[in-house]
Amino acid sequence: MRDTQRIDKLLSNSGFGTRKEIKQLIKNGALKVNGNIVKDSGMHVDPERSMIEVAGEIFKYRKYIYLMMNKPQGVISSTDDKKHATVVDILPDCYKCFNLFPVGRLDIDTVGLLIMTNDGQLAHELLSPKKHVPKKYYAVVSGNINEEHIGLFKKGVILDDGYNTLPSELKIIKTGDISEVEVIIHEGKFHQIKRMFEAIDKKVKYLKRIKMGNLILDDTLSEGECRELSDEEIVLLRDRTI
Ligand code: URA
Repeated sequence: MRDTQRIDKLLSNSGFGTRKEIKQLIKNGALKVNGNIVKDSGMHVDPERSMIEVAGEIFKYRKYIYLMMNKPQGVISSTDDKKHATVVDILPDCYKCFNLFPVGRLDIDTVGLLIMTNDGQLAHELLSPKKHVPKKYYAVVSGNINEEHIGLFKKGVILDDGYNTLPSELKIIKTGDISEVEVIIHEGKFHQIKRMFEAIDKKVKYLKRIKMGNLILDDTLSEGECRELSDEEIVLLRDRTI
């Protein structure tokens, strides 16, 4: 079945203004579908098959948007929160109309890679516990991390609620009173990385997600910045088999 939408809703959701503003465009005769001036703001169109012109410019329809954000500290990974700014609040205005949501959650104090999209199917697949999509983190941890801890993470550690984690990969970058590590986990329990380190009597001081599936955080993005994924990156994200 063809997917049709009201033209005022379509354009409003694509950043052309409120429905009232779209009505005004129509009144001004500035909207055309397949060369014909639109008269009715409730007209249904198939955005994939119709040629829509807004004030003489051809409208390029995009069903889905995929952004990579370098999430900053102090911001909540949800679409709406009473107390704190959310990752949706800090999106550039040009993306606010697309109803984007974060794929999964990072804690308020965790920074790094967060995918924002309106593609529910892809989000579902990336988050499905059955898919075991790997997530890689860089962490600064209090206390010495050694080979023994690598073995413990490999076996799986028991969290405070008794849950035994899946095998994870711990890599030591620097060890000392404060250690630097990378960890790859294949699941996403609540506060998982912090609780895994608590299970070995360490405390996470700083946490940054640097990779999800095969998608690597663009290190030119400052905290709080985002950019659209390239076509290649969208393929990387979908391809979790590599
Ligand atoms: N693990 C955590 O403890 N926090 C996060 O934000 C992500 C993984």
